[in-house]
Amino acid sequence: PLSGRVSLAVNGERHTALIDNRTSLLDLLREQLGLTGTKKGCDAGACGACTVLVDSRRVNACLTLAVRLEGTEVTTIEGLAPGENDELHPLQQAFIEQDAFQCGYCTPGQIMSGIGCIREGHTGSPQEIREWMSGNICRCGCYVNVVRAVEQAVS
Ligand code: FES
Repeated sequence: PLSGRVSLAVNGERHTALIDNRTSLLDLLREQLGLTGTKKGCDAGACGACTVLVDSRRVNACLTLAVRLEGTEVTTIEGLAPGENDELHPLQQAFIEQDAFQCGYCTPGQIMSGIGCIREGHTGSPQEIREWMSGNICRCGCYVNVVRAVEQAVS
């Protein structure tokens, strides 16, 4: 039953959605708003594939109830390079230059988490970046290059 309702901005665009009270932000994004860039890995808060920003803070969208996000601003991977000139966000560009992915499934979450990591100032050393990105799992094992990409985007 669609007993809940939420109004929020996603990538600068305002949406009002009728939802089940148990709907996660992840399902709202992917299934109702068609924003499938945010990935579902575990759906249980363990992998970080679903990382997005809510009011500039990193969250696991799979653990976040959409109904609680009234009035918030959500940023997903689709919101980083929305222009028509294909200009990427510096961290997206850095992921390409540092070869920071293989299959790419975790990449949207890694990039959103990396942006959070940079904004929070946890970039003092490779170890610090690694620690503050530790909620994002990469089954291909690209961690070294992910850290390099975040370092490149900071510099
Ligand atoms: Fe949300 Fe894995 S899908 S943490």
